[in-house]
Amino acid sequence: MWFVLVLAMLVGVEAVCGKDTSGCKVVEPSSEAKHIGLGDTELVLAFVMFRHGDRTPDDEELNLYPSEHHIPPNIFFPYGKKALTNKGKQRAYLTGKYLRQLYDGLVCRLYLPDQVKIRTTEYARTQMTALAALSGLYPPEPAQKWNPTLDWQPIPYSTTPFAEDDLMYWYNCPRYLSLKDQMYGKPEIKKWLDPYEGLFKYMTEHAGTNITTPEDVFNLDNLFQTLSNVGLDPPKWAQDVMPKIKDMTKIEYAVQYYNSELIKLASGVLMQFILNATDSVVENPEKRIEPKLYLISAHENNVAGLMAAARVFEAHQPKYGSTFSLELRKNLKTRRYGITAIYARDAGGPGTLLPINGCGGQPVCDYEQFVTLMQDVIWSKEEFYKACKTPL
Ligand SMILES: *[C@@H]1O[C@H](CO)[C@@H](O)[C@H](O)[C@H]1NC(C)=O
Ligand SMILES: *[C@@H]1O[C@H](CO)[C@@H](O)[C@H](O)[C@H]1NC(C)=O
Repeated sequence: MWFVLVLAMLVGVEAVCGKDTSGCKVVEPSSEAKHIGLGDTELVLAFVMFRHGDRTPDDEELNLYPSEHHIPPNIFFPYGKKALTNKGKQRAYLTGKYLRQLYDGLVCRLYLPDQVKIRTTEYARTQMTALAALSGLYPPEPAQKWNPTLDWQPIPYSTTPFAEDDLMYWYNCPRYLSLKDQMYGKPEIKKWLDPYEGLFKYMTEHAGTNITTPEDVFNLDNLFQTLSNVGLDPPKWAQDVMPKIKDMTKIEYAVQYYNSELIKLASGVLMQFILNATDSVVENPEKRIEPKLYLISAHENNVAGLMAAARVFEAHQPKYGSTFSLELRKNLKTRRYGITAIYARDAGGPGTLLPINGCGGQPVCDYEQFVTLMQDVIWSKEEFYKACKTPL
């Protein structure tokens, strides 16, 4: 059950942010936010994961449906393959605007490098998405305007190499992949798949490649989505079974995070990083907090995986530009800390507050309770890599 709260309605009120008085705002919760319990809290720290914007397909996807018959040459011009389209850039920019609405005051309007940290995966599309989002989040204030005709300023991000990136678990963690494959054989999951036996056969015949798992169907659907991003409709044979294809995508997402070991492999390193940062604030409440906002530009699996770890995930494919935040908040009356989870299904919001499963339906999950709930899904990067290399 989800609270529907339009967090985009939180509006900024002029206030001082550190020593700087130009371009800093503090968030005053709206009456709606007060009504459901956030009004008594102060936002302290936020971690935000978003999916890149609309893209073109990659070769792996194109190979699922051999292209020589159906793809006009130059259809991906000027983007190239596996690249962000203009629509994708627009969506990423909206994500940045949404983040400014949500976190105005947590971070200044001036870009202060110590306040915000940005991480991407090693893909052009997630890096370009970060850049487009940052241009929405940090249009230059007068003090940082460096070119009178350009409403943009350069802001850096960091990228972890592909092979060393825990966020890339579905490529670089063999144990995750074999564990997930094992799930397809579980009796209760077989039962979900039984009604779709005919679908695999049908899709194999029409695509001309072996479509035998929910993951294959999902990948083929991603191909159709990416082709429609450049104006190509899915083939008639696929349109005829589209509701079933979408059912299969949901099943695939349910399987990906089916148990705590899968969740831990998917998001355990990140969750441990988040708790380490929040712990250090909770344990040293007088210490200056830097950074206050962590942004991660990544993939739908990362959005879903972090939501699964935070116990708010319902099986679905997160859309382009969808944005998930975990926030550390402090109750102004009790001085206790807590965690909130906010999900914007669509790029640009609005955001919806999701009660964390295991926190009694509260909009703010008591911090100690949250830490307790996370114990079986967190570990270090070293433990992650060791486990990834260990066969089942
Ligand atoms: C599909 O799988 C079968 C059995 O594994 C294999 O013999 C066949 O070559 C595959 N077909 C394609 C098009 O990959
Ligand atoms: C944990 O947090 C502390 C304080 O913020 C930081 O110095 C340290 O590097 C963090 N460790 C990890 C593994 O992230």
